[in-house]
Amino acid sequence: MQDSYIDLHEAILKRRDTRHFTAEKVPEATLLKALEAAIQAPSVGLSQPWRFIDISSWDRQKLTDNFQEQRFRAEAQISDPNQLATHKQLKLSGIIEAPILLAVYCEYPEIETYTIGTIGNPRALEWSCACAIQNLWLSLTSEGFGAGWVSILDLAKLARQMAVSDRWEPLGIICIGRPATNYGGRPMLEVAQWRNAKKNIENFYWRHSTEQ
Ligand SMILES: Cc1cc2nc3c(=O)[nH]c(=O)nc-3n(C[C@H](O)[C@H](O)[C@H](O)COP(=O)(O)O)c2cc1C
Repeated sequence: MQDSYIDLHEAILKRRDTRHFTAEKVPEATLLKALEAAIQAPSVGLSQPWRFIDISSWDRQKLTDNFQEQRFRAEAQISDPNQLATHKQLKLSGIIEAPILLAVYCEYPEIETYTIGTIGNPRALEWSCACAIQNLWLSLTSEGFGAGWVSILDLAKLARQMAVSDRWEPLGIICIGRPATNYGGRPMLEVAQWRNAKKNIENFYWRHSTEQ
């Protein structure tokens, strides 16, 4: 029995990082379903470190200023004038227009709280959060909605602005809404001729041939 519009593999292929949204509202049920998918993600030591805060009513200009500062900082590093010109054309955030903005945090456990798998490798907590974000993203895609992960931010500044908890590290802002475009089914950065996605498995997967 299938209870979503498209199957998982199709959702994986159709998922795009969306920066262009319509003004259409996202039904509460769609958001809750996506969050339900998110919190089913695997997590190191069953830590479930993901935290989501709806910041849609936050001062979006402040968030945009944070984004723009980082963007300009990055652009100052680009020496090739053609590359810089292309970069300036890219829309790298839907913060202003996305109907829903979620701030995503990774909660680090108290020092004295033992969590499996995090002593040698605390970054596994953030990887767990990334798994949750991907679940959220795919769920929204399967419902015909979309999301865009904005990480081009001064995250320390965002943490200060939000002032939630010292143990909550922001991982970015997820912009959610109905996509105004699917970019022709390709990553927007490819369409904008910034970089082409490698499509062959051989670029990413090898068998180790050396005998141990
Ligand atoms: C951890 C992470 C952070 C990202 N941050 C940004 C961002 O700040 N701005 C942006 O436009 N895209 C951001 N992206 C989206 C990528 O640019 C996008 O996934 C990539 O170009 C491939 O396109 P696709 O997601 O449509 O397949 C981010 C993606 C990931 C996974």
